[in-house]
Amino acid sequence: MTRVFSGVKPTGHLTLGNYLGAIRRWVDVDQRQSDALFCVVDLHALTVDHDPARVRRLTRQAATLLLAAGLDPELCTVFVQSHVDEHARLSYVMECVATDGEMRRMVQYKEKAARERERGGSVRLSLLTYPVLMAADILAYGTDEVPVGDDQTQHVELTRDLAVRFNQRYGHTFVVPRATRPGVAARVMNLQEPTSKMGKSDDSGPGIVYLLDEPDAVRKKVMRAVTDSAAEVVYDPQERPGVANLLEILAACGGGDPEDLSRGYQSYGALKKDTAEAVVELLRPVQERHKALCAEPAYVERVLRDGAEKARGMAKPMVDSAYRAIGLLPA
Ligand code: TYM
Repeated sequence: MTRVFSGVKPTGHLTLGNYLGAIRRWVDVDQRQSDALFCVVDLHALTVDHDPARVRRLTRQAATLLLAAGLDPELCTVFVQSHVDEHARLSYVMECVATDGEMRRMVQYKEKAARERERGGSVRLSLLTYPVLMAADILAYGTDEVPVGDDQTQHVELTRDLAVRFNQRYGHTFVVPRATRPGVAARVMNLQEPTSKMGKSDDSGPGIVYLLDEPDAVRKKVMRAVTDSAAEVVYDPQERPGVANLLEILAACGGGDPEDLSRGYQSYGALKKDTAEAVVELLRPVQERHKALCAEPAYVERVLRDGAEKARGMAKPMVDSAYRAIGLLPA
């Protein structure tokens, strides 16, 4: 059976981008067709300036939202990264396979490091080595497929390179994974800046739809989305990114093709209205289940505890064999 692994980082409240780009597929496809693990990758949240209490809160909230979105612990394994030591254990070994130059070429590192320096802050070493930890997350489970949005494909490519290099140098140990992406909405854009990704760690609230936004907040954000001064509704991601983003969101919510949908609209107002309602209806059941699960914190904790135990059992033999292959004496 295909092994699937993916994760979400608790650096902010989960967004519509996380849902359409990744989580919805985990729920609808991956957990049903594969042997799948989904992880709240809290160690990754420590790579930028962070508040410990907030990371704890967001970790719990992300796990609760994954279950609210429909991940079913009977079908897949849901857990928190720091509960399974194997991730950090393997990460060090992969640091001995990766190169400094490779890390510095990662687009996300370059962008985030530049932003951090602009703010006058310092760049944590873990921000540079982050993709190695992500590779360890994936490789520890013998993962075949990694369902992610577009922004993570470079990291999955790096993971493939590291797996191949390790296998060539030290003998076949790792499965070489591949990224899978959704058909539409693989990169949901910020509604206020449609040339930038809708990212949960960004500060610009008005352009980001959060999964827990009230319906009226969703409507307001979508109705105020930046478009352009042209009159007719055309799907052209290069020239008309704002309108293309709305069409992609609408298509992702209801099924269908953004270009086909564009032909049904004469005005931006009507497109925005339908998109807003589609998002509100998409989020409604997730928000209702989230509310119910918040009343059952012991259930969520139990799911995470059981998930970590299962994950540990899967990762340990793989990480042990990587340790042996690279030359470490068995304990
Ligand atoms: P993160 O937490 O930024 O995002 C979680 C998932 O959501 C997708 N995504 C988007 N998709 C479409 N449009 C957007 N605007 C958008 N924003 C986010 C991401 O592509 C991702 O699939 N490094 C990862 C977390 C991670 C991971 C892993 C993922 C750590 N280890 C191992 C897979 C496998 C991250 O920061 O995702």
